[in-house]
Amino acid sequence: MKIFIDTADLEEIRLACSWGIVDGVTTNPSLIKRAVDAAKKENVKIDIESYIKEICLTAGKERPVSLEVISLKSEDMTREARFLYRRFNRVAGNVVIKIPVNTYTEMSGSSHYEGLKAITRLSKDGIPVNTTLIMNPQQALLAAKAGAEYVSPFAGRVDDYIRKKLNIKFEKQDYFDFLLMQNIASHKLTRFLDTSGEKNTASLCLDEKAKKWADFGKDNGISSGVHLVEEIVHIYRNYNITTEVIAASMRNARQVREVALVGAHIATIPFKVIEEMTQHPKTVEGIKTFTQDVVPEYRELFEE
Ligand code: E4P
Repeated sequence: MKIFIDTADLEEIRLACSWGIVDGVTTNPSLIKRAVDAAKKENVKIDIESYIKEICLTAGKERPVSLEVISLKSEDMTREARFLYRRFNRVAGNVVIKIPVNTYTEMSGSSHYEGLKAITRLSKDGIPVNTTLIMNPQQALLAAKAGAEYVSPFAGRVDDYIRKKLNIKFEKQDYFDFLLMQNIASHKLTRFLDTSGEKNTASLCLDEKAKKWADFGKDNGISSGVHLVEEIVHIYRNYNITTEVIAASMRNARQVREVALVGAHIATIPFKVIEEMTQHPKTVEGIKTFTQDVVPEYRELFEE
């Protein structure tokens, strides 16, 4: 699995690239805001054009950098995408344009198809697109049909959505134990079925209690962000679709491991989570012991 860094913080990009484990960079308007706000705090004014150029340069030509459009109508997104591509791709030849799969909101007045129309146009022009805000496998299928080079399912936000609906309290970085939840729900369903007497299968399928436990903790059949990634990978494999799946909105190291297990091509990971991936208390303990156990004879070997 490739690893992208999910940040617009130049220092984080520099550092993570220097560790030799980063294959690309993803930004979005909120990440750019975070970088601009952090600079403001230090009384530094960011010249956004030079700043983005620096991100592209730091990543270098082997690492794609996703830059997102800001409009909601297909014509405007297409124009912005062409502008971003023209302006920044010449720096290192690594720009990918992020287009939301659907820009509809109650306020926007835009249709549900603006994103797909923009993706189709840009893909025909040969501009690589990363479709963002993917929350279900159907959207990922449509984005691939429209010609997207990448899709970004937001695993963390899907977990947030499921947990909020269930009134589960959590911190942003908390692991969501969706398998435990699914096991409990299926146990409850079995218990209910065991005690439901002679009802026939059809009426049990329509039974509100049975439906409640069967659908428990699922968003239209999706039980977690990892499950969402898994289904998209599965669908793409069924049809030899070459669009790459970027597991996005990563919240913790265990979630990264799980999206790797289900076959995500890429995970885009915040700096903090990349750091978390390196850590284990027994590694700390081990390094302490190894350091203490160095005998003078062995140390001398390294002295010039
Ligand atoms: C990356 O492509 C996404 O924009 C990003 O992962 C979203 O992460 P968040 O849900 O933590 O904001």
